[in-house]
Amino acid sequence: MLPRATDDMTTAGRKAPVLRASTMINGPVAIILAAGQGKRMKSEKAKVLHEVCGQPMIRYVVDAARGAGARTIVVVVGYAADQVRDYLRDEPDVLFAEQDQQLGTGHAAKVCRPVLGDYRGPALILVGDEPLLRPGPLADLLRRHQEDGASCLLGTAMLADPTGFGRILRDSAGRFLSIVEERDATPEERAIAEVNPSCYVFDLPDLWEALDRVGTSNVQGEYYLTDAPAHLMTMGRKVLALPVLAADDVLGVNTRQHLAQATAIMQARIQDHWMTEGVTIVDPRSTFIDGRATIGRDTVIYPFSFINGNVKVGANCKVGPCAHLRDGTVLDDGVEIGAFVEINRSHIGARTLVRHLAYLGDAEVGEGVNVGATAVTANFDGKRKHNTHIGPGSLIGAGAVLVAPANVGQGAVVGANAVVTKGHDVGDGETVVGVPARKYERRPGQA
Ligand code: UD1
Ligand code: MG
Repeated sequence: MLPRATDDMTTAGRKAPVLRASTMINGPVAIILAAGQGKRMKSEKAKVLHEVCGQPMIRYVVDAARGAGARTIVVVVGYAADQVRDYLRDEPDVLFAEQDQQLGTGHAAKVCRPVLGDYRGPALILVGDEPLLRPGPLADLLRRHQEDGASCLLGTAMLADPTGFGRILRDSAGRFLSIVEERDATPEERAIAEVNPSCYVFDLPDLWEALDRVGTSNVQGEYYLTDAPAHLMTMGRKVLALPVLAADDVLGVNTRQHLAQATAIMQARIQDHWMTEGVTIVDPRSTFIDGRATIGRDTVIYPFSFINGNVKVGANCKVGPCAHLRDGTVLDDGVEIGAFVEINRSHIGARTLVRHLAYLGDAEVGEGVNVGATAVTANFDGKRKHNTHIGPGSLIGAGAVLVAPANVGQGAVVGANAVVTKGHDVGDGETVVGVPARKYERRPGQA
């Protein structure tokens, strides 16, 4: 936990000195620019909170920065600032800097200065709208920054289609000169394939000095962070641009179309990971797996299945086709979830079968249960959600409705189309039938 600077810490009635920020900041530092509205998204929501494979874009960028070794992360917030703060509020290594007016990326970096005080050392600067960044290349950048003794190191990427990015200008010997924004570029400059993905390592306090020199004489009239490297060079500092980033890592999300592209790439990564871990995905294109989900070996995911949220699927399970597993669901080993089945916030015991058209919500289901076609737990009474317990080895008949709170004992049988009404428990080994469900006693001679 980072200590907070306060002015009311008293020692024996005497006011203690205000803690200076520099005494508290652990390096390396990362700064993530996330104050922009993202006008092209046409949204009330902060751009960086739009989701890719179930998680806000900023999640991935924060994780990449952390994974690269950043020990303090300053997130610059502005448009819908409270939403972003709220989302990241429980992360002790994350600090916030407020940019009241979005005057450009250079200005966004500048507002971090009071937060970082006189911290000296490397600052990785990233933008919050690049969810595909991975920690590996960023860690390389931090390492090279150290080794090469550069004041600023730019990670660059070569793109077949550089549209939308700032371009990297080099001299005839290949040395970095400056970055030109697409809007400010000549047709020749626009033809350059090497782009600025906004992944920089700057030495602090050099950057603060360079930012003081940045002006607004560009098409947008903004303070561009992209001007800082050239200013550092005029100040006699070393600046290097290294093409260490892959095209797939640097997709900047500025539109809903970009969001869909980023989702497709992230989804392919997630599925690739689980296939490497021994999961069969029959048709990757029609399958969606949330980045937070985990899946055990030899599980087979059939087409058109949607695994959404924090879901744990065990080993040797079958999921789908057309299954929907929702947040908080746990499937133990050998579970089979079939076509048009939705499972929500439920724990399903080993080898239990829910093969057709069923809904289980807020349910704790034991091992070896068979849930028949179209059986449902009615877990919502219009005001509150309630739980259902189904004991091991039970049979829940086709079309049965369990009105929660409901308890079905071990080895019990709920007949087809029976409605187990609220609070009417089914005992161990008991068979119930009808509406409302009542105990079924075999009459003499009856089968
Ligand atoms: C920026 C770069 C461009 C680079 C591209 C990579 C500049 C001037 N241009 O352009 O060279 O190729 O990123 O994706 O830096 N932001 C703020 N405050 C502001 C403005 C922006 O916090 O006042 C944040 C935004 O929330 C966003 C990031 O900075 O997360 C980048 O801003 P955006 O407007 O998307 O810049 P690009 O046009 O993509
Ligand atoms: Mg952008």
